[in-house]
Amino acid sequence: MQDMNKMKVVVMGLGYIGLPTSALIASKGVNVTGVDVNEEVVEIINRGSIHIVEPDLKGLVYSLVNDRLLLASSRPTDADVFLIAVPTPFKDGHVPDLSYVESAISMVIPYLKKGNMVIIESTCPVGATENFYNLIKKNRPDLEDCFYMAYCPERVLPGRILYELEHNDRVIGGINPESTQKAKGFYSLFVKGMLHETDAKTAEMCKLVENAYRDVNIVFANELSIICDGLGIDVWTLIELANRHPRVNILRPGPGVGGHCIAVDPWFIVHKSPATARLIRTAREINDQKPLWALDKVKVAVTDYLQQHPDNTASDITIACFGLAYKPDIDDLRESPALEITRLLAMQHPGPVLAVEPNIKQCPKELKELPDKVLLVPPEVALKRAQIAVLLVAHRAFSEMPMAAWDNVHVVDVCGVFH
Ligand SMILES: NC(=O)c1ccc[n+]([C@@H]2O[C@H](COP(=O)([O-])OP(=O)(O)OC[C@H]3O[C@@H](n4cnc5c(N)ncnc54)[C@H](O)[C@@H]3O)[C@@H](O)[C@H]2O)c1
Repeated sequence: MQDMNKMKVVVMGLGYIGLPTSALIASKGVNVTGVDVNEEVVEIINRGSIHIVEPDLKGLVYSLVNDRLLLASSRPTDADVFLIAVPTPFKDGHVPDLSYVESAISMVIPYLKKGNMVIIESTCPVGATENFYNLIKKNRPDLEDCFYMAYCPERVLPGRILYELEHNDRVIGGINPESTQKAKGFYSLFVKGMLHETDAKTAEMCKLVENAYRDVNIVFANELSIICDGLGIDVWTLIELANRHPRVNILRPGPGVGGHCIAVDPWFIVHKSPATARLIRTAREINDQKPLWALDKVKVAVTDYLQQHPDNTASDITIACFGLAYKPDIDDLRESPALEITRLLAMQHPGPVLAVEPNIKQCPKELKELPDKVLLVPPEVALKRAQIAVLLVAHRAFSEMPMAAWDNVHVVDVCGVFH
């Protein structure tokens, strides 16, 4: 690997992965140009600020931009390494949408020189790296195959991204053994975790499998909670008892599965292997339906309340939804089942619906845009106004509230705040 101070790196996409990665690489003295199609993002970063929430990142970006080690731009430049970190969502029918990766690679193609390396970090279906390798070869025959290409998936935890980028083990899969070695040399400049060599296809599958594994384990707990509900068994007690077995470790049930990884990536496996990925598909389907089960539990609670208060109608009942994030103690609402349940309740319930989410300051647009808009309120206000409290996310802020705070509401707990 060449001298770090002379090396130039272009990172395509300056989001949750691309920006911290750019900052980490630049912090080692490498010149990094971060490219984003969003002009506002470019402008914010060049001001030395950031547009995402991630501890310690703002100060780091500020000093790197001041030291001219990190520059944001709306187009690539000449470099030694081009790293792709753009979104890979799915389209209708759970088909992987690789258009962002394709567009980022197309933007890079004119800048490639012999000896350069392209690394994809975006989560991709199996075979994507090889297809993009062929796309580059087709568009740049003058390179005479003298470039390197590898896939290196990202597995960081939001909130700890800077630490995990540096310390997690990485799986590096080159399109050929030379690419694997070259990419390994590059990551060894800034990663302290172990660097595991493989081929591109295995590395692609590895990322997808990590998230499918989580999904399949979560669905076991989620299905169990539905079965137990029907049998009149307290699922939390049951899980606690079953986990006393030395080789059993059942996860915690919840309102569904959210986030941009576990709820998305398993579909990339199903799309590639529809006939054989039966368990993975079923897990996805059951987890996706879990919010509807939670919604039914709230409807039952409304009916119960009306039976006990025959003078009331449903429009007299205020429902407070506790938690909007996709998992406890974060502010991330992407693909969040709690947000979806709150949205559906606001559309279906004739009375007021309140949202409580201590980790955000503004009501998300999905709720603000509704005809009967949902108000974001502090927990005490919600508990004063609501007759029914739906516990959707086991935030510490909720479990640490005194038990007496919940005395005057009917509680529907779908995430085990008190267990
Ligand atoms: N966020 C995570 O925790 C995480 C973890 C593991 C893997 N991943 C994967 O990493 C990839 C990136 O995810 P993210 O969370 O950083 O996404 P993000 O949405 O936060 O950021 C992506 C950025 O790419 C920009 N962009 C889109 N098209 C572009 C183009 N052609 N050229 C340059 N920039 C472009 C967007 O404007 C955006 O700022 C995805 O494949 C995701 O699945 C994310």
